[in-house]
Amino acid sequence: MKGNSKYTSHILDEKGYISWSKEENNTWSLLIKRQMKCIKGKACDEFIEGLDKLNLPMDKIPQLKDVSAVMHENTGWVCEAVPALISFDKFFDLLANKKFPVATFIRRKEDFDYLTEPDIFHEIFGHCGMLTNKAFADYTHRFGVLGLAASKEDRVYLARLYWFTIEFGLMKKNDELKIYGGGILSSPKETLHIYNKESKVYDLNVLDVFRTPYRIDIIQPIYHAISSIDDLFDISNMDLMSLVEKAKKLGLYKATYSPKNKIAS
Ligand SMILES: [Fe+2]
Repeated sequence: MKGNSKYTSHILDEKGYISWSKEENNTWSLLIKRQMKCIKGKACDEFIEGLDKLNLPMDKIPQLKDVSAVMHENTGWVCEAVPALISFDKFFDLLANKKFPVATFIRRKEDFDYLTEPDIFHEIFGHCGMLTNKAFADYTHRFGVLGLAASKEDRVYLARLYWFTIEFGLMKKNDELKIYGGGILSSPKETLHIYNKESKVYDLNVLDVFRTPYRIDIIQPIYHAISSIDDLFDISNMDLMSLVEKAKKLGLYKATYSPKNKIAS
């Protein structure tokens, strides 16, 4: 989240709109058409319901105001335009106020399949549909409230929970895997990877998640699956910070990936 980005976000005009170029709109169009095909039968029902509500354009980047209007009507959330990279303080503060940070830039051709910093396609297509769902939206809000109050050290543990749910969350229903995490839903590679059985999928246990390291720059070797979206309500109501304390005492699990490059947690 922190650091340098080669991208610069667009600034909203006085009416809250962005004038995207033809090339930028074209990138969105290619990304959304490809991903709509890719997630068929793989995204969870709640995500598809969210997409139906958002009714995202296929030919141009949506305006944040239009996406916010739908989210606000359903769960009270809105989008907040932010720079390409923001601090953890800002990130948690926005979530605690039901504002979802959306970096207002879109990836260039050379980054079409993968980029480390989240662009507007990842944020809107990957996350905003789920933010029309009450269980997911309340869970994300709780995460923001806790993160805002947490120490730097504790935020690293909370970030693991964010990663394995909001970004890379799976749902296992009747032995069938469905996706609700935005990091998967906005990436064709990661979406298809879930079903090739090369990764381990555990039933989600919050304490285990707090103890599981991850890397942001590889296809995920481990996922933690909930059994229904309502599990997120239950997690929201847990004493998460005392589980963080427990995780600190027990220590991290051994990483299942090579330690090269940067490790996100
Ligand atoms: Fe994300």
